[in-house]
Amino acid sequence: MSASAASPLLHLITTINLLLLFLTATVSATDHIVGANQGWNPGINYTLWSNNQTFYVGDLISFRYQKTQYNVFEVNKTGYENCTIDSAVGNWSSGKDFIPLNKAKRYYFICGTGGCPNGMKVSVIVHPLPSPPKSAIAATHSSTKSAAPAVARGINSIPVLFGLFTLFWIGF
Ligand SMILES: *[C@@H]1O[C@H](CO)[C@@H](O)[C@H](O)[C@H]1NC(C)=O
Ligand SMILES: *[C@@H]1O[C@H](CO)[C@@H](O)[C@H](O)[C@H]1NC(C)=O
Ligand SMILES: *[C@@H]1O[C@H](CO)[C@@H](O)[C@H](O)[C@H]1NC(C)=O
Ligand SMILES: *[C@@H]1O[C@H](CO)[C@@H](O)[C@H](O)[C@H]1NC(C)=O
Ligand SMILES: *[C@@H]1O[C@H](CO)[C@@H](O)[C@H](O)[C@H]1NC(C)=O
Repeated sequence: MSASAASPLLHLITTINLLLLFLTATVSATDHIVGANQGWNPGINYTLWSNNQTFYVGDLISFRYQKTQYNVFEVNKTGYENCTIDSAVGNWSSGKDFIPLNKAKRYYFICGTGGCPNGMKVSVIVHPLPSPPKSAIAATHSSTKSAAPAVARGINSIPVLFGLFTLFWIGF
């Protein structure tokens, strides 16, 4: 095959490859439903729930509840410990709230309608993600190691296969 004929195809493959990498990295965000099928209600130990999850930057935390009874406030540590909303940096009340966890830090959420002393408080630690290009390179060069969380979570084998295919194509 001549170089001039292969070039547009090569561009197409590279573009698809990059798109796939981008999509895989984007789609891998997890929605953590607070309390799973028990939702946001009194009498549940949400520490047990949050200890059982791993949160990464870009994930969502979502609260499902009766909007006539409860709501959600993001507060600081003091607000979480004392069930006060003076420190509120955000509040939600739709009954089905999706809140993006955009920073690597500890977040605190409580119910602002009196449910907090009955256990309606949750604190989660959000971990940083290694950047996708680094993970992609790591995944391509080492198929057996997947120590980094992003590699295990974000990068499936399809983009890696496309990457190898592209390298193969360039090689010939
Ligand atoms: C919830 O569970 C955690 C972890 O086992 C425990 O430390 C905490 O005391 C519990 N909270 C309540 C209110 O029972
Ligand atoms: C922890 O997660 C596992 C697997 O998703 C689930 O089976 C278990 O019920 C969870 N435990 C709690 C306390 O949420
Ligand atoms: C929070 O409650 C503790 C006691 O549980 C109290 O010592 C402290 O002053 C309270 N903090 C605020 C800001 O109200
Ligand atoms: C939380 O916010 C309240 C009110 O703004 C403030 O008094 C308190 O010191 C803050 N606590 C922390 C741990 O930052
Ligand atoms: C709830 O958030 C809105 C903005 O979204 C704000 O105007 C309002 O004061 C907040 N309510 C409380 C009680 O903090």
